[in-house]
Amino acid sequence: MTQSKVCAFGDDPMVVRHTFAQFPSGVAVLAVDIGGEKHALVASSFMVGVSLEPCLVAVAVQKSSETWGAIKDADSLGVSIFGKDQGDLLRKLASKDRAARFEQVVIEVRDEGAVYIDDAALWLECSIHEVSEAGDHWLALLEVKQLGVGENEPLVWHGAKFRELVDAESVGVK
Ligand SMILES: Cc1cc2nc3c(=O)[nH]c(=O)nc-3n(C[C@H](O)[C@H](O)[C@H](O)COP(=O)(O)O)c2cc1C
Repeated sequence: MTQSKVCAFGDDPMVVRHTFAQFPSGVAVLAVDIGGEKHALVASSFMVGVSLEPCLVAVAVQKSSETWGAIKDADSLGVSIFGKDQGDLLRKLASKDRAARFEQVVIEVRDEGAVYIDDAALWLECSIHEVSEAGDHWLALLEVKQLGVGENEPLVWHGAKFRELVDAESVGVK
């Protein structure tokens, strides 16, 4: 008998977290300035290409997120995808001390309130298209209004570590 590749995970969330951590992703920060107060929500659940016409991306946000409560009605959200050397910045923008998140962080604030971090891999200006319930998260569809690509390569989040992209065909080839 062949051994099964899958097994029941019961009610152990750590098994689920550990398994999902093997799925690599980029990490986004949704950022906005509302009346001079800046908010940042770091999310690895960010997903591009949900739809091309209209241009939609998605993010899953924990229902417990205080930042989401503050930004969910914003007209415009800045989305920056962290670059390969921005792990420390990511940690800062995701820190528990919400008031300190933007201390000494180089940003650009646009008139409509969208906030972008410097040296990101790419930037999107989005509006909130639709929000639906997804278990213990909100699933937010964002409509992309403007976009741009930076010169920094993206940081990769995998196995609870920050990693960098490597060209597979160049590995081991002399
Ligand atoms: C690498 C990384 C990825 C994260 N991904 C998500 C995510 O996809 N969705 C989410 O709601 N929170 C995510 N978080 C947690 C949030 O960034 C934030 O810490 C949390 O929402 C609590 O802060 P808040 O109450 O200000 O929202 C992530 C944190 C880190 C460090």
